[in-house]
Parts: sequence; structure tokens; C-alpha cells
Amino acid sequence: MLLDVTLPRLRWGAQNPFGAGIEQLWVEVGFGGGEHSRALVAANPGAGLIACEVFEQGLCSLLAALVPQGAEATGALPANLRVWDDDARALLRALPEGSVDRLFLMFPDPWPKARHAKRRFVHPDNVALVASRLKPGAEWRIASDDPTYQDWVQDVMGTQDFFTGAEPKHQRPQGWPPTRYETKARAAGRRPVYWVFTRRK
Ligand SMILES: C[S@@+](CC[C@H](N)C(=O)[O-])C[C@H]1O[C@@H](n2cnc3c(N)ncnc32)[C@H](O)[C@@H]1O
Repeated sequence: MLLDVTLPRLRWGAQNPFGAGIEQLWVEVGFGGGEHSRALVAANPGAGLIACEVFEQGLCSLLAALVPQGAEATGALPANLRVWDDDARALLRALPEGSVDRLFLMFPDPWPKARHAKRRFVHPDNVALVASRLKPGAEWRIASDDPTYQDWVQDVMGTQDFFTGAEPKHQRPQGWPPTRYETKARAAGRRPVYWVFTRRK
């Protein structure tokens, strides 16, 4: 029911645009269980968030938290949330250049083996794609608990010209909702790092 009935009500597309009162366009890549996306839209009614996830279990977690059982077709949904149930890179290609105000990449799959580096979301090819869709001055927020990925972010973002550098932080910045993956990482003794990169004007 959730995937067949509720998801189409939220799926982003030309026939399901954000309504009046939405002043900013935000994108979250890989929302996992969706708690970060839900907290963002609840706290920021003027921002329209397109939340991306490919994993069915994650999609169902988000949808189940939004509508009570039995109200899949009718339950009220946040006016400022849309879902993209496909690769976030395809969404970015479909969005106009310079249209996104903020992009969230919270605890991306680390792909720690060197031979899988091409699969990491923070990758020179994706950095150019993200940069093309972000407005000048827009924020790209990234968090990771994986030491290999943390070094990788420093290397990749340190050798590009689209974004101004960010000091890595070990405390989650104020206004960043926690995520499920982050909670698990901390419980396992891992130390997340948080960055805010800014698109050059
Ligand atoms: C390690 S989990 C973190 C989930 C969540 N952000 C959190 O912090 O709890 C990474 C998620 O990103 C999703 N993902 C990976 N690559 C993606 C892509 N290209 N487009 C959309 N989702 C993606 C995966 O399915 C997975 O659920």
C-alpha cells in the first residue's frame, strides 16, 4: 500500500510541483529511514525538500512515519516534501542548473575499498554535477563516520574550484537533525565528521 498508494502522492515530478509559499529548493541524497528529512520539513515550512532514496525499506520507513495505517490514500502529507525513488544523480540531471539552495548528503555509503571508489557519491564527476545544480552561495552539507571516506572528502573537495573549503567539525552543527545511521555509528564508537561547503558565486 505504501509504495503503491502513498509514494505516488509524494513522488516529485512536473505534475506534482511544490505549491505557493515554498521559497527554497532543498535535496537530500540517500535519506535512509527518513527521520532527517521529516525533521527538516517540519522545521522549515518555507523550504521544499526532494528526498531521494533507492532502498525500498527506507522508502517504506519514511512513508509509514507520515501516514497512519489505513490512511495510505488519504492521510495528510507535508506540503513541502517530495520523494525521488531513484538515483539522486538522475534527479540532479533533471533539475534546472542553478536551482537548488541546499543539498544534504548524510552518511553516504562509504565504499571503503579503493577499487570501489568510483561508487562514492563524493566523486569528482558528481561534484561537478552537484555544483552545476546548486545556486551560487548554496550549501552542500556532508557527514561521514568512515575514516577512509573522511580523508576522501578532504582530498576530493580540496582539489576542486566549485566550492569554498569547509573546516571539518566533530560536533553536529546546530540545526542539523540527527540521523539513524549517525546514532548507530556513535553507539559503535565511530567519530562522525560534518562539513558545510558553499558554492562559489
Ligand atoms: C549509509 S545509508 C545512510 C542513510 C541516512 N542518510 C542516515 O544517515 O541514516 C546511505 C543511503 O544512501 C542511499 N543511496 C546511496 N546512493 C544513492 C543514490 N545515488 N541515490 C539515492 N540514494 C542513494 C542508500 O540506499 C542508503 O540508504
